[in-house]
Amino acid sequence: MCKTRARLARAVHRRPRLVCGSRSGPGSLDVVVKLALKCVFWAVVTVAVLTVMGAATVVYSGIYDIAANESHYDFVTRLLTTVQQSSVRRHASGIEAPPLADADLVRAGLVRYRQLCAVCHGSPGTDREVIGRGLNPAAPRLSIEVSEWSDAELFWITRNGLKLTGMPSFSIALTDDEIWAVVAYLRRQVRLSRSEYEAMVRAIDTGAPLPPGVEWIEEDDRGLRLLLTRGDPERGRRLMAQYGCGACHVIPGVVNARGQVGPPLTRFGERHFIAGAVLNTPQDLVAWIVNPQGIEPGTAMPNLGVTADEALDMAAYLFTLGEAPALLHTVRPDLGW
Ligand code: HEC
Ligand code: HEC
Repeated sequence: MCKTRARLARAVHRRPRLVCGSRSGPGSLDVVVKLALKCVFWAVVTVAVLTVMGAATVVYSGIYDIAANESHYDFVTRLLTTVQQSSVRRHASGIEAPPLADADLVRAGLVRYRQLCAVCHGSPGTDREVIGRGLNPAAPRLSIEVSEWSDAELFWITRNGLKLTGMPSFSIALTDDEIWAVVAYLRRQVRLSRSEYEAMVRAIDTGAPLPPGVEWIEEDDRGLRLLLTRGDPERGRRLMAQYGCGACHVIPGVVNARGQVGPPLTRFGERHFIAGAVLNTPQDLVAWIVNPQGIEPGTAMPNLGVTADEALDMAAYLFTLGEAPALLHTVRPDLGW
């Protein structure tokens, strides 16, 4: 390579006017260009050889740690995640989902989920078994979130599994109809409390009817529409200052809200549970603010005499805190949350 460069220099030196272009003869520029190309060629070859040698070292020397209990390098995780997401999106793009808000479908899906998925993915109120937690990547808690994926993508993942992860393909165990039932249940599951889940399981095991208030599918939207149409976040913010919620809570945007008695309400819209007890839905948040002692007797948060209307406004404000509210986004994308 150095030799080539020296020749190139000489060529340029010998014919300075040619390079400047005042009396260029045919062919002389060609020499310069050819030599330059040669230089580039050898540079590319060298880089390629070094890259192959580097890759071979990583592959054969054993320095990459593939232990499942050690995490990947960040860039490897990012790479694998991106490949996975793009692949699922592309392969599921032609699949059309049937209507999934169907009680029989959800019921059948729960039966399958309990048999095949709960061991790795957990169920409402119960964490995954050691198998699901020990995998790398660990099986995500589908009882909390499936927000990233569309119905068609959930179907595709369940049917085909995910290479290079512990997620099996279920195309040999389940028919396509059964897989859609599982997807219908996955959608319902993110809004099931532990007690509702247990009531459903009892209903399946014993034929007992579902207790009042528990439904296979939800007819109402748990107060979300009410919150969006009637809740006034600005009024809620002022009311929280007036009621002195800030004596016990840190609340962004509310004056003097720096209390440390209760949990900070920062990014509250992303929270899945209220006081670790009930799902963070508008209805349950209003119920909590109005009557925390009724939901968790003896909790350090007192009943403050807040009316349901006032609580709705406070809830509207609290749901604006954080990025797009995770739970609502999961279940009501049609409402733009
Ligand atoms: C042996 C354990 C195991 C079983 C059983 C299992 N999964 Fe998974 N699943 C995984 C793992 C591990 C991942 C994580 C893949 C990743 O993060 O790259 C996963 C990922 C998923 C995802 C993608 C979630 C996300 O947020 O990326 C879906 C959906 C899913 N599984 C559905 C199911 C369903 C439905 C069943 C039952 C029919 C099931 N899985 C059974 C291990 C399992
Ligand atoms: C005397 C202190 C006190 C006051 C005043 C108070 N809270 Fe609380 N709050 C608490 C405590 C303590 C908890 C945690 C309860 C638990 O986990 O059992 C809590 C929990 C909450 C939660 C659930 C937080 C979470 O992370 O799950 C919300 C929401 C909430 N309070 C809203 C309010 C609002 C709105 C007001 C004003 C109307 C208010 N609080 C006034 C003490 C207070």
